[in-house]
Amino acid sequence: MWHYKDFIFGELPCIVTFVSVEVNGQQNIMTASGMFVSDAPPLIAISISKESTTHRLIPKAKEFVVNLASTDQVDLAEKLGAIHGETIDKLKKFKIPTEPASVIRSTMITNCFANLECKLIHSIKEGNYILYIGKVVAHKIRPKLKPLIWFENHYFRLGKKLA
Ligand SMILES: Cc1cc2nc3c(=O)[nH]c(=O)nc-3n(C[C@H](O)[C@H](O)[C@H](O)COP(=O)(O)O)c2cc1C
Repeated sequence: MWHYKDFIFGELPCIVTFVSVEVNGQQNIMTASGMFVSDAPPLIAISISKESTTHRLIPKAKEFVVNLASTDQVDLAEKLGAIHGETIDKLKKFKIPTEPASVIRSTMITNCFANLECKLIHSIKEGNYILYIGKVVAHKIRPKLKPLIWFENHYFRLGKKLA
């Protein structure tokens, strides 16, 4: 279970993503943050709890999609971050619009700010999380949408350009 209280990392402004993964017809999606790792090759990292369904599926799938949430998806971020997908298909339960990825099998979420199709290249166990590093093999951006930000247990949109 995700606890925000007394959680120092709540002070880190984070991107909000939906990590989608599929193994032998079982699909799952969860809310997670993510971070840039490298641009050549293009690498992104997600840190996934050992207690999550997503953690069980990613090493088998060896691929996943990092769907960058848009400012229209606060409600979805809360829903997908509140339940485990072990016995429930969250994509069906929440009627999430999807489209096929172009290179990998995992499903992409249609109305996100961006979709990053990733091949798993590395996983690192640290504490009660696994850091999964994915190589972005295809991507799609919807520039009319804006990315969603999470900070101090609240959701934000980007503000004034400073420089
Ligand atoms: C804004 C937000 C960010 C989150 N970030 C992460 C994260 O980076 N890593 C993680 O393991 N869980 C994170 N969570 C919690 C998971 O989304 C939650 O435990 C989810 O139920 C796991 O789903 P699963 O068991 O179906 O994989 C976050 C939740 C929210 C609402």
